[in-house]
Amino acid sequence: MKELDLKAVPVNERSPDRIINAWKELAEGDTLKLINDHDPKPLHYLFQVEFKDTFVWEYKKQGPDEWIVEIKKIKPPPILSPEQKKKRDELKQILKKLHEAGPEELSGVKKEAQKYFKEVEPKELAMAEQELIQEGTTRTEMKRLCDVHLEVMKGQLGSHAKKLKLPASHPLTICKDEHKIIKRNLRRLKALLAKLKAAGSFDQAKRQLDVLKELSHFFLETEKHHQREEKAIFPRLKAHGVIEPPLIFEEDHVEFMAKKKVLSESALAENKGSYQEFLSKIGPVIEFLTTNLTDHIYKEDNILYPMAYETLDKSEWKEVRKKFDAIGYCCFAPADLKKAKVSRKSGIPPNIKQWAGKRQKAKIKGKKLKV
Ligand SMILES: [Fe+2]
Ligand SMILES: [Fe+2]
Repeated sequence: MKELDLKAVPVNERSPDRIINAWKELAEGDTLKLINDHDPKPLHYLFQVEFKDTFVWEYKKQGPDEWIVEIKKIKPPPILSPEQKKKRDELKQILKKLHEAGPEELSGVKKEAQKYFKEVEPKELAMAEQELIQEGTTRTEMKRLCDVHLEVMKGQLGSHAKKLKLPASHPLTICKDEHKIIKRNLRRLKALLAKLKAAGSFDQAKRQLDVLKELSHFFLETEKHHQREEKAIFPRLKAHGVIEPPLIFEEDHVEFMAKKKVLSESALAENKGSYQEFLSKIGPVIEFLTTNLTDHIYKEDNILYPMAYETLDKSEWKEVRKKFDAIGYCCFAPADLKKAKVSRKSGIPPNIKQWAGKRQKAKIKGKKLKV
C-alpha cells in the first residue's frame, strides 16, 4: 500500500496531479492511502470521470480533523456485448421503476418485476445495482431499493441459491450453515421479546433474562462470521470489480454490531432502570435485528454468495478457506476439522448454553475449533 499524507504537504503544493501520478504508478490490486485534513470529495468526482470502473474508493476515517481514504486499483470490468448491455439497462429500468412507483402503481410494477426476476442471475442483479450507485443513487437509497426488490424477489431467486451445491468444507457452505444457526437464534430472540413483554417485571422475567444474556453473548460471538465475509470474501469480490454490493453488506455489519452491543449491555447491566425503560431500550433493538439481520442473510444466501461463487476463480476459494481458518470460527465446526464433536450432520449445537460452555472449555484461539 502506498501512502500519501497530504496534511504534511503545504496547501499550495497539494495539486491533484501529485495524487494522480502516485495513482498511475500503482499496479493492479495495489492501494493508495490518502490522508487529508478535509474531505477529498472533489478528487472522488475526478476519479469517477477519469478512472471509472478501475478503482474502489473507501473511507477509513471521515473527520472531523482527518480524512483517510483508501483507493484500490482494480482490473476494469469486461466489456458487455450490445445484447448484455441492453439486458442490464432493462434491469436497471425495472429497479428504478420499483423504487419510484407510487402506491397505486406498485402492485402492477411488482408483477412485471417478478416475471423479470425469474430470468435474472444474482450477479447480473448485483452489477445493475452497482451501476445505479455509480450513476448517482446513494448507498442509502440503494439499501431502501434493495428492501423493495427483495420483497418482490423472495421465492424468485431461490432456484439460483439451490443450484449452489458445494462441499461441506467450502467457505460458502460454512457461512450458509452458520446462517442457519443465526436465523434459529433470531427466531428465539423474537419469541423472547414477546415473553419479556408478557412478564411485566424483572422478578417475573428471571428465566427470560438468563436467555437474553445467552443470546446476546451468541450474537456478539457471531461477529467472526461477518469478519470472515469482510476480510476473506469481500476484498476478492472488489478485486473482480464487484465493489458496491460488498460495501452495502459491510455497512449492514457495522449497524448490526452497534445493536448487538446495546443488546449485550442491556442484558448484562446490573441497574436496568425501570422494567418499562428496559423494554423500551431492548424492544427496538431486537425488532431491528430480527428483521434486518434476517433480510441480510436472505440476500447473502440468494444473491451475494451465488454471485461470489460465480465471480471468484476456483483456486481463490482455497485461499478464502485459509483466511477463514486464520480468522477463526464462532459457533460452527467446519466439516474437515475431524476432531470436532459437533457433527456436521446435526450441524447445530442443541442449544446456545451447551454451545457456549463447550466453546469456553475449548478456548478457541483463532485457527482451530476444537470442541
Ligand atoms: Fe454479512
Ligand atoms: Fe453472513
